[in-house]
Amino acid sequence: MKMLLLPGDGIGPEVIDEARRIIAVLNTGHGLGLEVESAEIGGASIEAHGVPLAPHVLAQAKASHAVLMGAVGGPQWKDVAYHLRPEQGLLDLRKGLGLFANLRPAVCFGALADASSLKREVIEGLDILIVRELIGGVYFGEPRGIEELPDGTRRGFNTQSYSTGEIERVARTAFTLARQRQGRVCSVEKANVMESGVLWRETVTALHAAEFSDIELSHMYADNCAMQLVRHPRQFDVILTDNLFGDILSDEAAMLTGSLGMLPSAALGAPGQPGLFEPIHGSAPDIAGKGVANPCAAILSLAMALRYQLERPDLADLVEKAVSDCLADGYRTADLAGGPDTRQVGTQGMGEAIAARLAG
Ligand code: IPM
Ligand code: MG
Repeated sequence: MKMLLLPGDGIGPEVIDEARRIIAVLNTGHGLGLEVESAEIGGASIEAHGVPLAPHVLAQAKASHAVLMGAVGGPQWKDVAYHLRPEQGLLDLRKGLGLFANLRPAVCFGALADASSLKREVIEGLDILIVRELIGGVYFGEPRGIEELPDGTRRGFNTQSYSTGEIERVARTAFTLARQRQGRVCSVEKANVMESGVLWRETVTALHAAEFSDIELSHMYADNCAMQLVRHPRQFDVILTDNLFGDILSDEAAMLTGSLGMLPSAALGAPGQPGLFEPIHGSAPDIAGKGVANPCAAILSLAMALRYQLERPDLADLVEKAVSDCLADGYRTADLAGGPDTRQVGTQGMGEAIAARLAG
């Protein structure tokens, strides 16, 4: 099996180095047999190849079993042409691999319950999975652009569009995952003001009736969902939503856990296609190169690859347990530091502590 590593920009390379360390331990101590290669994406690719995702890197991604990415973007590239910005490399990679389902868990680690801005009793035990549609909707819809109007002013426009096929495939992923969890899906849109939301609701309802009547399905408007997430987040099991609302709601859900540096994600396409696994924190240019970034989200993204792509859920369990054991033993990177009985470590220190628990 082959994994392509795309460290990218900012803290990406540092956290991906720690994921690499964990792969080495799993290869030698647990018979994983995962070969790794690496390539550029985002700003790093602009520097190396003049574009944020070079065709040969996309080909390399397609030829591997899974892709693990660090992060893209940074102030160095704020003046490049819009279609060449680092983020475009990530959008092109998602589109190029056909990754329509983005899994974003928001899990509250017991040892970190006091790091949330919400009260401990509201978030303790939180375990939500957001399933975000990733390659459709307003981020990709045509027509789009900025045009001059006859009166000399300008108009910016984008198109929100979803076909039944696009809705069905991501909804199927959400329902299937719910079967392995608490069996509840909340589908989120704005059917009260958008036709694409009306079709979303009708399509999800029909699929549910046809194939997933064992799952409890509810519907919620996106604005209400944003509110319910801070009011009573544990009411949710799986949240199914579109690209735009999923982008926003997943950042909100992530912050409930108090630890953006802890949260992984997976982007999956059709069965047999390589998935893309990435921490949800960005490139954090302000702390890049300092050796203080939290590598847990990158390492937990590797765990998601083991679970959802590489058919090694046993090793995914081991990695997740090693991470939570380290937290319970008091290891904290700077983003989580403080609190009694904790010791602050850097990026490598955290990676080493996790690796040691896997080796021993
Ligand atoms: C995310 C990010 C990306 C997105 C950006 C970097 C293109 O915000 O993964 O949520 O909007 O999808
Ligand atoms: Mg986002």
